[in-house]
Amino acid sequence: MRKKVIAGNWKMNMLPNEAIEYINQLTPLVKDSKNEVILCVPYTDLFYALLTAQNTNIKIGAQNMHFEEKGAYTGEVSAKMLKSINVEYVIIGHSERRQYFNETDETVNKKIKAAFENGLKPIVCVGETLEQREEGKAVEVITKQTELALEGLTKEEVKSTIIAYEPIWAIGTGKTATSEDANNAIKEIRNKIEQIYGKEVAEDVIIQYGGSVKSKNAKELFTMSDIDGGLVGGASLDPEEFSKIVNYDI
Ligand code: PGA
Repeated sequence: MRKKVIAGNWKMNMLPNEAIEYINQLTPLVKDSKNEVILCVPYTDLFYALLTAQNTNIKIGAQNMHFEEKGAYTGEVSAKMLKSINVEYVIIGHSERRQYFNETDETVNKKIKAAFENGLKPIVCVGETLEQREEGKAVEVITKQTELALEGLTKEEVKSTIIAYEPIWAIGTGKTATSEDANNAIKEIRNKIEQIYGKEVAEDVIIQYGGSVKSKNAKELFTMSDIDGGLVGGASLDPEEFSKIVNYDI
């Protein structure tokens, strides 16, 4: 049985004092959850978040990283740097990074490899635009993104990758994919992984849904056969609301 992984993506929100207060509020609310709870926070919050989340079941992730280990890349942060302060997870290839910061399938693949080399667990985002969906190309787009992202990884690495299926038209728009649509898209991603890496890997890999997940729709989405939790943006900014998403099964 795959576990459910619920990750908050704060995006460019929350100052360190707010992060500390948030985690202190969230801690008692999710302490009994059997689901994996992750908060992906801005770089400037990482250290404070890690300290505050010590001895809790809340794991901390970053939202991006560079694929090089070090060097003349002004403004960038490497996997090794994240690992050095005990960050566990990192979001890679979020659609906002693909859209605004020139992230490509190639850089996504390089980043995932660098994450594994440094002992970080990647949360890799794939998803189609509204236009691609309307042209009937959604499945083609997301399976290709998945294939290119994972290219050259070992079976063990693919098994430890978290994939987040995030249809771009559903992010921050209040529009959620229907649970059937999201489940079917995730099944297609799983099938693609089975074709390349075999049944065992495909059955183990965690694939989340992301895009306007809220406490009101979390249960319906997360109880579908192939949806293994969610990547939550806007609704993760409020600890009460986020705790209800984490506790969708309690
Ligand atoms: P949203 O964002 O929940 O605000 O739609 C999800 C994401 O971008 O990861």
